[in-house]
Amino acid sequence: MRHDPLDYLSRDLDSLKEQGLYRHLRILDGEQREAATFDHRTVVNLSSNNYLGLTTHPTLRERALEATRTLGVGSGSVRSIAGTMSIHMELERRLAQFKKTESVVVFQSGFAANAGTVAAVLSKEDVVVSDELNHASIIDGCRLSRAAIKVFPHKDVDAARKILKEIPTTTRKLLITDGVFSMDGDLGAVPELCALAEEFGCIMMVDDAHASGVFGANGRGTIDHFGVHGRVDIQVGTLSKAIGALGGYVAGSKTLIEFLYHRARPFLFSTSHPPAVAAACIAAIDVLEQEPAIIDRLWENTRFFKAGLESRGFNTGQSASPITPVIVGEGSLAMKLSDRLFEEGVFAQGIAFPTVARDKARVRTIVTATHTRDELQFALDVFAKVGHELGIV
Ligand SMILES: Cc1ncc(COP(=O)(O)O)c(C=O)c1O
Repeated sequence: MRHDPLDYLSRDLDSLKEQGLYRHLRILDGEQREAATFDHRTVVNLSSNNYLGLTTHPTLRERALEATRTLGVGSGSVRSIAGTMSIHMELERRLAQFKKTESVVVFQSGFAANAGTVAAVLSKEDVVVSDELNHASIIDGCRLSRAAIKVFPHKDVDAARKILKEIPTTTRKLLITDGVFSMDGDLGAVPELCALAEEFGCIMMVDDAHASGVFGANGRGTIDHFGVHGRVDIQVGTLSKAIGALGGYVAGSKTLIEFLYHRARPFLFSTSHPPAVAAACIAAIDVLEQEPAIIDRLWENTRFFKAGLESRGFNTGQSASPITPVIVGEGSLAMKLSDRLFEEGVFAQGIAFPTVARDKARVRTIVTATHTRDELQFALDVFAKVGHELGIV
């Protein structure tokens, strides 16, 4: 009988089970909403990135259906061969106007945008200077580029400066941070890093995946929030979170975008979005421009929920966004908390090593614009009950 060459994988899985870190995928029946049915249980959903409730917005749904009726279900090719439809170009034009940059290129996901862009603009003679908590897609892009990777402690601008001082002035450097950090919900040191980039002649890049639709005027992101338009060379955004559909994009100069059209591997070697996705994203930009009150609702809910967790004694870290972690320490305790919350009717995902540091395991909560006060109040009551039960508060 043939020996299974993959049997070491089951040993890894067994080890996860022993540590209490093995996860079953929760299955969503029906729509991704603020209250939703996962694993046959209707719960208050604090686990999606659907910040503005756009996954089920009637305008987006209608435009996606209309695009499917008139343009079909697929693009049938990569962008650089036959898969650039006029609706893809329209989306890029609208995003560039929205982000106030010369140009935009859309990718299949935010992951592809980050990884594809960093890998395309750098090569092995170059250096990346990167915040330690930057997203996995940035880290993968750095690895793919084969540039030297220098990591500075989270938001430690002085440490970044020390690293930059050591790098020869003639070496090409990319300074990179998330706009909002996805596990802690805190903001990157964007203005300070822009100043460093200017001082040391670096390319400045910000991943605004969790900021687009959330921060800045009409949800233009942290670049708008901090007033640093024109000082960030490469802005990445996602269409998969607040925008409610799927995709990622890079906003920047016309030259940068033309270069990525020719060199970014996900753009060249992976099929473009179905027209329905592009149509839904265009509709989402219309909503952001025409109904900014939904962003105000997101922030009202965020303030209410964060204050409620803090007043009940939970450690919510440094969050300044709708992402509020409840940090408990041990990975197995975070998973236990998440499981008990779910049994009581609240879905907040447990997150442990290697996604976060070993002693900083947590459940992560994200409120949306569409949660009602009653739903959030219910969730806070459940947090208090389960938190006491497990000795967390
Ligand atoms: C900070 C950050 N950047 C990029 C991404 C990737 O975005 P997408 O889900 O569109 O691939 C994520 C998503 O998890 C993220 O949190």
